Amino acid sequence: MTSTARRTDIPRIIGHRGAVGHAPENTVAGFRKAKELGCSWVEFDCMLTRDEVVILHHDDDLDRTTNGTGLVSETNLAAVRRLDAGSWFSSDFAKVPVPTFDEAVSALAQLGLGGNVEIKPATGYDRITGRIVAERTAELWPATLPPPVMSSFSLAALEEAQKAAPQLDRAILWWEIPDDWQAHQDRLEASAVHVSVKKLTEARAAEFRNAGIPFRVYTVNDPSDAARLFDWGCEAIFTDYPDRFA
Ligand code: G3P
Ligand code: MG
Repeated sequence: MTSTARRTDIPRIIGHRGAVGHAPENTVAGFRKAKELGCSWVEFDCMLTRDEVVILHHDDDLDRTTNGTGLVSETNLAAVRRLDAGSWFSSDFAKVPVPTFDEAVSALAQLGLGGNVEIKPATGYDRITGRIVAERTAELWPATLPPPVMSSFSLAALEEAQKAAPQLDRAILWWEIPDDWQAHQDRLEASAVHVSVKKLTEARAAEFRNAGIPFRVYTVNDPSDAARLFDWGCEAIFTDYPDRFA
């Protein structure tokens, strides 16, 4: 049994890393774009800098999505803040910064966007990232927004989030879905699963449905995939292109 009641406020379309088909991932500019494209929720990735500040960032290193280089876990916030996280995407987004979690939450509040806070620990930092991201979320999340969904591929990070802020809604992210997925749901008191469109089978979708566990699917950019998944009972999709599902 999970401890969280099934929620009914999750939209069918969630912007992935903001709306990364149209704007640089994990930036406030991406949140604005998602809102413009009709999203009411976005997903974003949360990682710790070397000085343990939560920022929005996906990869262990800075190279792909900023003009910096090296590991986030070895870079202090002050250095991260000097980076350009937009030019890699397009010159239209030159000098867009890497947001802190605090800034991101303020932007969500201003835009009226709900959020899936993905805990994305840098390699080796699972537990501390789970704890600090959960603590900051519990502290900062505005009452004017729907309660967030905390998710992670890292079971250790989710365990720490559960300890630090048990009241926050949790979902387990899977790539390969293990046969004992339900045991993990129960242990982590997770209310939903987030699974890959590349791995989800119709049989597994039926298992989730029969167990009464909402399943949400990443990253779905093809409307025909979305139609099949909704037919299987999928609750929501994460997409880079919210406009394709208007
Ligand atoms: O949370 C859904 C999705 O974002 C998980 O994969 O690698 O894009 O963070 P990734
Ligand atoms: Mg993510």
